[in-house]
Amino acid sequence: MTATLVSNIGELVTNSDKELGIIKDAALVFENNKVIWIGENKKAPAADKSIDANHGTVTPGFVDSHTHAIFAGDRSKDYEARMAGTSYSAGGINTTVAATRAASDDELRESTKKIINQARQAGTTTIEIKSGYGLDLETEVRLLKIAKEFTEETTFLGAHVVPKEMADSRADYIDLVKTQMLDACTPYAKWIDVFCDKTAFTVEEAREILKAGIAKGLTGRIHGNQLGDTGGADLAAELKLASVDHCTHISDKTLDALAENSVVATLLPGAEFFTKSPYPDGKRFLDAGITVALASDCNPGSSYISAMPVVLSLAIREMNLTPAQALYAATMGGASALRRNDIGHLTVGAKADLVIWDAPSYLHIPYRMGEISRQVISGGDERI
Ligand code: NIG
Ligand code: FE
Repeated sequence: MTATLVSNIGELVTNSDKELGIIKDAALVFENNKVIWIGENKKAPAADKSIDANHGTVTPGFVDSHTHAIFAGDRSKDYEARMAGTSYSAGGINTTVAATRAASDDELRESTKKIINQARQAGTTTIEIKSGYGLDLETEVRLLKIAKEFTEETTFLGAHVVPKEMADSRADYIDLVKTQMLDACTPYAKWIDVFCDKTAFTVEEAREILKAGIAKGLTGRIHGNQLGDTGGADLAAELKLASVDHCTHISDKTLDALAENSVVATLLPGAEFFTKSPYPDGKRFLDAGITVALASDCNPGSSYISAMPVVLSLAIREMNLTPAQALYAATMGGASALRRNDIGHLTVGAKADLVIWDAPSYLHIPYRMGEISRQVISGGDERI
């Protein structure tokens, strides 16, 4: 294989520690999709190829651990209504479900590819994608199969809401999710997720569904505490899930339970921004000893963004995170939420997923909301 040297790095963010493990005047060599050398620029070994970072900043690629990037249809009217003061509820999901069911595989593949290309251009090198806009067996399988063409991090979210046509047979829908739908989706999914909240699924329902998925070999994560302090995060602690996502409304007691059970808290500032909701205080989570991840929640209803630099800027401005904490959460935090130790950092042995930013320091990423030329290198994996 060909070794590639990235030379003249003004500032290299390695994430070897929580202070970002910054090395100034650095160089990095990768080969066979892996980082094989890191050190001072003047000591850099020769390589087959080289890329001149021109004194710019190199960071790990972003790990966006929470998206709903596969869907069809338009919800811009919901956005207009919310900006005029209508509050967000899970009900709009069914609008996207109808459009998604009607879309062909190729249409879904193309729209997902567009989002992924945009995310990648903004610096994302790993992306998680959930189903959840099919809500019938055939469409949920279709969504996961297509999502898997783009990423290994696919999540079965048959329990997003109860679909309209089964509104009067809720128990039957939950049963379907836990049995035939789960069986059909498991080959295409790594994760199982439930939207546990007001107007979605209760804690008892979520527990049953997650346990069924875990018994089939999937790993659990949950949408919890977005619309109220409704128990999803406590369930995450009880089941020792990988991550609880949203956490907009959460008590100190629950934060302690998350820390004790090593559950990552994934904060999604895009959702608060686009639903005009109060932001959770990220510092509370860090002070409680919880690993925080930042993700885009890219979806048409509550957070139609894929650019992680924007997510960083929002989290710093609105969630009380420092720029260093936000960058760490969007890289190492995301990797922890996906239980991956090969990504989110640039140390020897890590996947060569990196971004070369035309900026003198990482501060410029949120400071300029990502409006910086950059080159994204993704370990040779061209899918993302
Ligand atoms: O993560 N909270 C649940 N699901 C999405 C919103 C989905 C939608 O409104 O279409 C979210 O915010
Ligand atoms: Fe979500």
